[in-house]
Amino acid sequence: MALWGGRFTQGPDQRFKDFNDSLKFDYRMAVEDIEGSMAWARAICKAGVLTEAELKALEQALAELKAEAEESLSAIAGAGDEDIHSYVERRLIEKTGDLGKKLHTGRSRNDQVALDLKLWCRKACEQLLTAITHLERELVKTAKVHSEDIFPGYTHLQRAQPVTFGHWVMAYAQMFERDYQRLSNTYKLIKDTCPLGSAALAGTAYNIDRDALAQELGFERGSANSLDAVSDRDHVMELLGIAAISMVHLSRLAEDLIIYNSGEAHFVELSDTVTSGSSLMPQKKNPDALELIRGKCGRVIGALNGMLVTMKALPMAYDKDLQEDKERLFDAVDTWHDCLEMAALVFEGLKLNRHEALEAAKGGYSNATELADYLVGKGVPFREAHGLVGRAVLYAISKHKALEDLSVDEFEQFYKGVGGDVYDALELHHLINKRSVKGGTAPAQVQAEIAALEHKLSSRA
Ligand code: ARG
Repeated sequence: MALWGGRFTQGPDQRFKDFNDSLKFDYRMAVEDIEGSMAWARAICKAGVLTEAELKALEQALAELKAEAEESLSAIAGAGDEDIHSYVERRLIEKTGDLGKKLHTGRSRNDQVALDLKLWCRKACEQLLTAITHLERELVKTAKVHSEDIFPGYTHLQRAQPVTFGHWVMAYAQMFERDYQRLSNTYKLIKDTCPLGSAALAGTAYNIDRDALAQELGFERGSANSLDAVSDRDHVMELLGIAAISMVHLSRLAEDLIIYNSGEAHFVELSDTVTSGSSLMPQKKNPDALELIRGKCGRVIGALNGMLVTMKALPMAYDKDLQEDKERLFDAVDTWHDCLEMAALVFEGLKLNRHEALEAAKGGYSNATELADYLVGKGVPFREAHGLVGRAVLYAISKHKALEDLSVDEFEQFYKGVGGDVYDALELHHLINKRSVKGGTAPAQVQAEIAALEHKLSSRA
């Protein structure tokens, strides 16, 4: 049964109905739709549309519908109604007869869907904030264990300078912490204004205290402009924007670990629990969890793009184009949530191959900057030291030696003032410990960074 048959002489073509109906995906907002309907029933009761007894009966029936929806949400998807609003109203009328037909007084599906989606986004934010926190906790745990373990640091995918593995892990923890803060800001903004009472576009004609209604639904206040409120999907764009940014972080993390786990690097070993085998090659253990995280980043960025394009040039106020907001939002939120959980699972079982990582950090002349700094200490201007060390590296390469394997005599070919103290300077732990500036890779510094983030995380559920 459609909500709007009166002015029509013909029913919809089945093909149009299939094209137009949204219940197959917006059933996911059933609980939100019912919660909004309960608040609306109370508001129109105060406005004199319903008696107290009628309100009670509607509340009772809505509570039953809510329990049903919570019990088996997906069963609603195939009910055949146009959308979740039509479904809830039909079921309410089945339960309460003509009384149920009063609920929609002064309300439109335009403010209704705007409210439902905002409520859905609010719950999604809460779940996502928990998932980000869980991942951050796993990262902190790993970083703590490895705050002193030496690892090759890269720029341009060329070995650059050694870092600690904990330092690398915490780089990602910082990214996810910013995602957390970004999402918290959006959450606050979502909770600021409630669209209910905006009706179709011009505001309801009934005497509703919209601020009180908003507060009952957990918002700060009623929205200030009804035209804006029924077509505002900023929160969808924001959520997708943050999802896209966070998926980029997850994808970078995945890419790094895929490289570090490769047979060529073998700096880390992924657990059997997050890898899979090949149907043909018995020796393989593929990093599927990470590859899927990297791959799924594309669909979330696609969802953001799609939403932005849908909103662009949308005439004021509500247009059916807006129905296109949900599938991509639901998919992006599900995907992001799954990827956060999967990344946490990867870290639970991640093993660092300390020896391989240390050997790799030693290779590639990644202590060359140290030699230059050593020469600076002997009074050589840095630019000149840079050139001298470059030549020393070239020489060492030709001898198949590391810098620390050159003799003092060999060093003296490049600069006379090199002494036996050069070997301490080239030693990796020394090099790491020297970088104790705030944000640097020295273990003490990384431990301070870990403690600061741990402190933030400790106040979260
Ligand atoms: N299914 C619609 C949506 O998702 C609900 C709002 C319908 N409003 C309307 N005026 N046809 O946007």
